[in-house]
Amino acid sequence: MMSNSAQSGSKVIVIGELNVDLIFADSNIRPEPNREKLVRDFRLALGSSSAIAAAGLAGLGLEVAFVSIVGDDEFGHFCLKELARLGVDVTHVAVDRSVRTGVTLSLTDGHDRSLLTYMGSIGSVTPALVPAELFREAAHVHFGSYFLQDAMRPHWLEVFKLAKACGLTTSFDAGWDPAEHWDRERLAALLAYTDWFIPSEEEALRVFEAGAVDELPERLPAERGAVIVKCGSAGSVGLFADGRVEYAPPFSVQPVDTTGAGDSFNAGFIASKLRGGTDREALEYANACGALSTLAIGGAGAVSLEGLARFWPEGRRPA
Ligand SMILES: Nc1ncnc2c1ncn2[C@@H]1O[C@H](COP(=O)(O)OP(=O)(O)OP(=O)(O)O)[C@@H](O)[C@H]1O
Ligand SMILES: [Mg+2]
Repeated sequence: MMSNSAQSGSKVIVIGELNVDLIFADSNIRPEPNREKLVRDFRLALGSSSAIAAAGLAGLGLEVAFVSIVGDDEFGHFCLKELARLGVDVTHVAVDRSVRTGVTLSLTDGHDRSLLTYMGSIGSVTPALVPAELFREAAHVHFGSYFLQDAMRPHWLEVFKLAKACGLTTSFDAGWDPAEHWDRERLAALLAYTDWFIPSEEEALRVFEAGAVDELPERLPAERGAVIVKCGSAGSVGLFADGRVEYAPPFSVQPVDTTGAGDSFNAGFIASKLRGGTDREALEYANACGALSTLAIGGAGAVSLEGLARFWPEGRRPA
C-alpha cells in the first residue's frame, strides 16, 4: 500500500558530491611503468556515488532534486548536462569558480575497478548549499560517499534530524574511506536517524569491525534503522531494526563494468521502499538494479523502468 508521503511523484533529495569518471576498460587494465598500453574501451561518464544514485532514482520514475557544487569548468558543465539529461533537477547545484570539478580515473576489467580520485569539488558540499525549504516538499533524503564529503561529514546528524522532524525517510551509502579511519562513533550516532544505511560488504565489515557478515548483527548499534549490505555477485543482506536478517540471492549476469552497481542498488532499494515495497521486495528489486547496471560501461543512466522490465520481465513492478 502506498502512504501519502510515498506516492510515485514524491520527491527525493540527494545531497552529494559530483565528479566525472574517466573509465578505461579492458581484460588486463593494469598500468605498467614506462610502457604504453592500448585499451579496448574508454568513456567519459558522470561519476560519483550520489549522482549515480540520483540518476537511478530518476530513471526509476521518481522526482529527484540534487544538491551539490561543481567548478565552472568543462567537467562541471558536463556533470550538470548529464544530470539534467537523466531527469535530475539541478537547480540546487552551485557552480563555483573557486573549485575545480573532481575527477576519478577508473580502470575496470569487468570484475574489479582500480580508482584514482582528484577530490576537487567532491569534498566541497557544505550545509549552506542545502535549502531547508526542500525538506518541506520531499519524501526522502539520501547521500552517498560518507567518507568523501568532507565539509558535510560533521553536519549529517543535523541534516537527518531536520529530515526526520519534517517526516522524511533517510538513507546513505558509506563508500570507501581512503584514510581507513571509518569515523565509527559519528557514524553510529547518525544511524539512529537513518532508515536505511546501505554500505557494501567490505565497508560494513570495516565500519562495524566484524570479520564476516554473520557477525554483523551483534556489532550494530542498538539504536538504528535497517543496515542493507551489498555483497557484489553474492546479492545482498538486510539487517532490520527488529533483528530480522533477510538474504536476497543475486541475479545471474556477465558483468561488463561494475561501476555504479552499488549506487544503482541504492536507487532500487529506495524506490521500492518509497512505493510501499516490503523489505524483501526492496532487496530483490535493488539486486535487479545492481545487476542490470553491470551490463553497460559507466554507472549513471544504467537503470530505467524500461531497461528493468526487459532485464527482469517477471519482476513485479513496484506499485
Ligand atoms: N557480478 C554481479 N552479479 C550479480 N549481481 C551483482 C554483481 N555485481 C553487483 N551486483 C548487484 O549490485 C549490488 C551492488 O554491487 P556491489 O556489492 O559491488 O556494490 P559496491 O561495491 O558498493 O559497488 P560500487 O562499486 O558501485 O560502489 C550487489 O549487491 C548485487 O545486487
Ligand atoms: Mg559502493
